Amino acid sequence: MSFNSFGHLFRVTTFGESHGPAIGGVIDGCPPGLRFRLDEVQAALDRRRPGQSRFTTQRREPDEVRILSGTLAEEDGTLISTGTPIAFLIENVDQRSKDYSAISESYRPGHADYAYDVKYGLRDHRGGGRSSARETAVRVAAGAIAAKVLPDVTITGALVQMGEIGIDRANWDSAEIGRNPFFCPDAQAAARMADYLDGIRKSGSSVGAVIEVVAEGVPPGLGAPLYGKLDADLAAALMSINAVKGVEIGEGFASATLTGEDNADEMRMGNDGRPVFLANHAGGVLGGISTGQPVVVRFAVKPTSSILTPRRTVTRHGEDAEIVTKGRHDPCVGIRAVPVGEAMVACVLADHFLRQRGQVGTPPAWPFPR
Ligand SMILES: Cc1cc2nc3c(=O)[nH]c(=O)nc-3n(C[C@H](O)[C@H](O)[C@H](O)COP(=O)(O)O)c2cc1C
Repeated sequence: MSFNSFGHLFRVTTFGESHGPAIGGVIDGCPPGLRFRLDEVQAALDRRRPGQSRFTTQRREPDEVRILSGTLAEEDGTLISTGTPIAFLIENVDQRSKDYSAISESYRPGHADYAYDVKYGLRDHRGGGRSSARETAVRVAAGAIAAKVLPDVTITGALVQMGEIGIDRANWDSAEIGRNPFFCPDAQAAARMADYLDGIRKSGSSVGAVIEVVAEGVPPGLGAPLYGKLDADLAAALMSINAVKGVEIGEGFASATLTGEDNADEMRMGNDGRPVFLANHAGGVLGGISTGQPVVVRFAVKPTSSILTPRRTVTRHGEDAEIVTKGRHDPCVGIRAVPVGEAMVACVLADHFLRQRGQVGTPPAWPFPR
């Protein structure tokens, strides 16, 4: 099962299974001299950690990260990257493999079980093995370090839809994102989500969600035509997150309903000598290259496939069967996908920042003289 790495200059490799002793990662290409603290990486992991509310899986994982290489520590605990591979480890401490005996023989409809088995002829059914979103903790740790490559960029993720409940953008309050268990920027929608998800959870079902990630302060020039487009790499990175079934950049699918006039992000010169865009339908990327506007991406996650409602399936021996998935599962994986989405955006932007520095170095002085 190869292909466990992504990125070019900021290259992240992840390893580990849901019920193995540990998961972890290696960042190859982190520039030397970055300063960060372990508690910053831990804080990022804590936002994704399971078992923090009744709305996420009750698996109790402290997700304590240990850095094994690639940094020097100062007396006050500040870590400085040395430019060598940064390897880190997160131990699994709360596995309950017996919960998964039902899926050792039968496939969960909507999960990766059948696809893994039919491809490889074997799979680690305990907690889903490598297909478990336990792996996404590693992405979050890598994202926290990637963010240090981009000190002027602010990346904010928010859950904007859960099942049939969408936010009202007029109620958007960024401070609210950290106040409710859903990372939802609309307090009223969050209150409705709580009742709604309680009902879903108690009935043994699950529901999907849409997450929006906005990166502000992204310099113009990241991304390259044609096969290194920033939007293409963001889409690939977000699509690689478990359960993601759709990605949009800027106006996304809704741009199909707009006219050329409406969709054009008109420009005017600002007082600071830089252009001002009068709208951002493009989501901050034109021609695969960042424009300096906020980079706006959205991704949709499907409902959790491990549910308590009996579903028809087949066994690995080719018999019809029925399956009820026990174990501890997220009733809406979109909640914990918020920090994962932020992390993937950070990793892609860090990679493109280094690629831009490698190819263009100092950007041209814009505007150009006549
Ligand atoms: C943060 C997060 C948590 C998840 N938790 C669960 C879970 O508890 N149970 C489950 O069946 N799937 C969960 N998933 C989704 C599965 O990992 C995913 O559906 C599975 O690997 C199949 O891959 P696919 O949906 O991308 O095709 C989670 C996904 C994310 C992003």
